Amino acid sequence: MTNATMKAVVAPRYGSPDVLRYVDLPKPSPKDGEVLVRIRATTVNSGDVRMRGLNVPRGLGPLVRLRMGITRPRQPVLGIDLAGEVESVGRAVTAFRPGDRVLGSPGFAFGCHAEYRCLPGDGTIVKIPDALSFEDAVALPFGGSTVLAFFRRAQLKPGETILVNGASGAVGTVAIQLAKHIGATVTAVASGRNADLVRSLGADDFIDYTTTDFAASGAKWDVIMDNVGNAPYARVKGALKPGGRFLLVIGGLGQMIGAGLSKAIVTAGPEKDAVNARIYAELLRLWETGALRPVIGARFPLAQAADAHRLVDTGHKVGSVVLGV
Ligand SMILES: NC(=O)c1ccc[n+]([C@@H]2O[C@H](COP(=O)([O-])OP(=O)(O)OC[C@H]3O[C@@H](n4cnc5c(N)ncnc54)[C@H](OP(=O)(O)O)[C@@H]3O)[C@@H](O)[C@H]2O)c1
Repeated sequence: MTNATMKAVVAPRYGSPDVLRYVDLPKPSPKDGEVLVRIRATTVNSGDVRMRGLNVPRGLGPLVRLRMGITRPRQPVLGIDLAGEVESVGRAVTAFRPGDRVLGSPGFAFGCHAEYRCLPGDGTIVKIPDALSFEDAVALPFGGSTVLAFFRRAQLKPGETILVNGASGAVGTVAIQLAKHIGATVTAVASGRNADLVRSLGADDFIDYTTTDFAASGAKWDVIMDNVGNAPYARVKGALKPGGRFLLVIGGLGQMIGAGLSKAIVTAGPEKDAVNARIYAELLRLWETGALRPVIGARFPLAQAADAHRLVDTGHKVGSVVLGV
């Protein structure tokens, strides 16, 4: 460690966005197997604001405190994704060089709302094409890794129908695009102001949740993906076709236990936690072929991370919220 410092945003305790502070922290230096990244863009996503406010689904609070810190976040710097340039590498790293443009993630170790972050050089970062901006790159993985994990486990197939509840957010905007890429027919659920957006991403049908309850419409789908938490399996199972699958993207402990008892309910599974270079490379391939385009609803400088948190807290952001560093 040198005496050099970097700017970072910290959450010294759990609470509202007002707890966040823009501070100087020691600049990290890479260990033998690590890469030091000069972060250029990161995101404030629904996971960050859940951790900051300990706003987690019913029954999961104690588990999250055990993992993240009992009375305050053990890692006060939030941020799960980064895009930037390699500044230096440890002695054992051969795959990356200073100047490489990369996308990476420390997973639930967080720490990306800062100017610098060290990451292991084997499996947590990938190089990105010159044509992909740092902001666009960093907007891909939060929703992208979630959707890839769920679609793989649900075995979404060409010709099937899928309803995406919460279609205009980070997860939903990727779900629409990748479901279309697979060859499914997509019904998107969001508020009317996002109808044009979700149709532009490929949605075949649109339901405005402020006027219509899809579960009571009489229509049925092969797959229902709930990205909001207001369409639990018990309420919407009548809208599933025989053999249909319910994607439990957000739900409390009781629903997680229920998922273990029903073949129709699909959870993210352990591979979702292993946010890694293989998944990132797959997302970059989808971007290169034009199957996946990043959706960025708002941009803020790192110093204004608290304003970004306030927006994400509303539950009505569009796509990803990106912090420029
Ligand atoms: N299981 C996992 O591994 C995993 C991974 C990532 C995320 N998640 C969870 O997935 C959820 C979605 O994340 P996100 O980042 O996509 O959230 P987000 O960007 O905040 O998107 C929220 C979406 O919900 C819609 N919405 C809000 N109120 C609604 C309502 N009453 N009915 C229907 N739609 C409504 C919004 O549309 P309007 O703005 O038009 O209202 C928007 O499309 C979060 O709860 C997150 O914690 C889980």
